[in-house]
Amino acid sequence: MRITMIGSGYVGLVTGACFADFGHTVTCVDNDPAKIAALKRGDMPIYEPGLAELVAANVREKRLAFTTELAGPARGADAIFIAVGTPSRPADGLADLTFVYQAAREIADVLDGFKVIVTKSTVPVGTGDEITRIIKELRPDADFAVVSNPEFLREGAAIDDFKKPDRVVIGTDDDRARAVMGEIYQSLARNNTPIVFTERRGAEIIKYAANAFLATKITFINEIADLCEQAGANVQEVAQGIGLDNRIGPKFLNAGPGYGGSCFPKDLLALLKSGLDFGVPIRSIETIISINEQRKRAMARKIIAACGGQIRGQSIAVLGLTFKPDTDDMRESPSVAIITALQDAGAKVKAYDPEGIKQARTILKGVDFAEDSYSCLEGADAVVIMTEWDVFRRLDLDRMRQLLKRPIVIDLRNCYRPADMIKRGFTYVSVGRPAYQCT
Ligand SMILES: NC(=O)c1ccc[n+]([C@@H]2O[C@H](COP(=O)([O-])OP(=O)(O)OC[C@H]3O[C@@H](n4cnc5c(N)ncnc54)[C@H](O)[C@@H]3O)[C@@H](O)[C@H]2O)c1
Repeated sequence: MRITMIGSGYVGLVTGACFADFGHTVTCVDNDPAKIAALKRGDMPIYEPGLAELVAANVREKRLAFTTELAGPARGADAIFIAVGTPSRPADGLADLTFVYQAAREIADVLDGFKVIVTKSTVPVGTGDEITRIIKELRPDADFAVVSNPEFLREGAAIDDFKKPDRVVIGTDDDRARAVMGEIYQSLARNNTPIVFTERRGAEIIKYAANAFLATKITFINEIADLCEQAGANVQEVAQGIGLDNRIGPKFLNAGPGYGGSCFPKDLLALLKSGLDFGVPIRSIETIISINEQRKRAMARKIIAACGGQIRGQSIAVLGLTFKPDTDDMRESPSVAIITALQDAGAKVKAYDPEGIKQARTILKGVDFAEDSYSCLEGADAVVIMTEWDVFRRLDLDRMRQLLKRPIVIDLRNCYRPADMIKRGFTYVSVGRPAYQCT
């Protein structure tokens, strides 16, 4: 199949490279000339493990190319994917569909013969209808079908997720589109990946409902962690005990500082707001959003308490800034709200992240960025483990103890075992497990 991908960000680039690797001929289009120039040079605009190699191999085989011009590749394409951003609209929290509708207008300009137009971006229910309306209005003569094909990949494991997904969801009632989509995903179908065909509106809701459910699991275990902390239980044992129940499952039951990232916060808000537009207030989602929001400030209070109740003038080392490991994505990372709260309380923050510092510099003000974990720790009054990068799971604890001014560790990802930490003389505070005070 010949595929055009509009948008070469986290999703468009990974999807485009993986489709090329399946044997399709893919052109990734982006209206950011700097991004396309970098990709043509072989420089990745994002950090994603394995992506540079995958892109290079498929460019070499001439199955993958990059351009800023849609017209050329779109004319020969069997399918045109829309993988542009759908951020929260600041005024009302609904998904901002400006980029999606702009892409639809650009597609309308270049349609020639039957085309399948696929929405990969996460869009509220009914968006496929609106894309259809826009294109029909501009090109009443055009022959096309708009399909919803939401993406479930996770940053940090994106290639593996794309190539071995739990399922592929395809929303369409057009037989020709169904055949093209079946061909595009043939490699996965051959490997017994369930390909779920639905109505387009159903596919649009599936994506939001899936993210909302996962965010609910995280939020639920975070509240259970709070109970464990107060009641003297260990949330990891509780998570294991409930996660082994097949009806619940073990994933997304790691207690921590709250969910973040480029998807959950905006998608839950968009689901809530679009539900209201249909006259359906989804109270559970409203509550999840509010609990998660409050949790970030609560984490800052936990850090302050671990430091003896006040941090004015103190230096706090923060290890990890991204919302999860193996990504450089800082969008809606809990670290931003937590660090801001620490600064509000008068602390000086020094931070290190293996990949997130470039983006963090544009978001966080007044933070001193360190070159590595150990220089971050030097002279700090306490250290906060914010993101569970592998490198922070394997720190030399004796060296850490020596570098810190006071041996206080607030581990918001439960990377270490409390017993080990106390043995080494740390005051160790984690999430949903008893705190240990160094005497
Ligand atoms: N990031 C994730 O982990 C993830 C996972 C699943 C789904 N999604 C969804 O996928 C969509 C894309 O997310 P992302 O993280 O890849 O966004 P992104 O911001 O990283 O990338 C979007 C790209 O689209 C480009 N673009 C915008 N308008 C364009 C146009 N008219 N023509 C050409 N290029 C254009 C931008 O320059 C940018 O490079 C969103 O709807 C998101 O919710 C993201």
